[in-house]
Amino acid sequence: MSEVVKTSGHYPDLQGKIAIVTGGATGIGFAIARALSHQGMRVAIGDINEDAARAAARQLGEGHVAFGLDVRSRESVETGFRWVEDTLGDYHLLIANAGVSTMQKALEITDDEWDFNLDVNTRGVFLTNQIAARKFVARRSGTIVNTASLAAKVGAPLLAHYSASKFAVLGWTQALARELAVDGIRVNAVCPGFVKTGMQSREVEWEAGLRGMTPDEVIADYIRQTPLGRLEAPEDVAEVVAFLSSDAARFMTGQGVNVTGGVYTG
Ligand SMILES: NC(=O)c1ccc[n+]([C@@H]2O[C@H](COP(=O)([O-])OP(=O)(O)OC[C@H]3O[C@@H](n4cnc5c(N)ncnc54)[C@H](O)[C@@H]3O)[C@@H](O)[C@H]2O)c1
Repeated sequence: MSEVVKTSGHYPDLQGKIAIVTGGATGIGFAIARALSHQGMRVAIGDINEDAARAAARQLGEGHVAFGLDVRSRESVETGFRWVEDTLGDYHLLIANAGVSTMQKALEITDDEWDFNLDVNTRGVFLTNQIAARKFVARRSGTIVNTASLAAKVGAPLLAHYSASKFAVLGWTQALARELAVDGIRVNAVCPGFVKTGMQSREVEWEAGLRGMTPDEVIADYIRQTPLGRLEAPEDVAEVVAFLSSDAARFMTGQGVNVTGGVYTG
């Protein structure tokens, strides 16, 4: 886990409200959960790795909870989100962050690999957003932030299936934002670059194999592509997510905000 960086922005409107963070047991999701807890939110961490989610909630301290969640299943999302309401009360914020990747040359991608990436990354965002948004619209209050990717803006070699799943997240985010604006619900996404997490460690090994490089050479290549000159930390993303979650971003909706250290500037 990366070094703890305390969130520097301060968003008093988040204080005392309840957030659900999917895929919040590790990596970017955990950094987001921690940033929101620093804002005084109570956080419910939903993750397919329930033990890790419980450990993460314990690390955040009192008032934070964890639940087992498979974002691919409508039943799991409905049951989990209802449990959060029964346990903590009405939630105000959904961070749809759970995601997976595999790496493969486009011509070698199997049906199973395609389905795995699309089911978690795209269907998972659809289900969690829809179930939360029904509540938010009924209450005319609530905010959604989805974790997309640099690969949602530029097709990434060896990640064609993952790129497709993340481009879809941005399309969904834009359309949902435009539909729900009338109800006062904001929907945005963040697009991280090369973030140092478990997902990245797995990708570095795969990419090294597929490109005939060493893992160190792959990491050096990520840094070379990053104008700000280092790997991204999960906290770099979490800072922006806290901002987008807050009233400070009250006039932003339907955006896919790049947080890449300058890798992508479009
Ligand atoms: N690491 C990067 O470089 C990077 C870059 C851009 C975008 N992202 C995106 O950021 C998000 C977080 O990735 P990360 O790097 O922290 O990866 P990670 O593997 O460290 O964390 C992903 C979390 O999602 C959980 N998860 C996986 N499948 C799930 C499911 N079906 N239901 C519920 N939870 C599930 C995992 O258990 C894990 O805790 C993902 O959406 C990923 O695509 C990552």
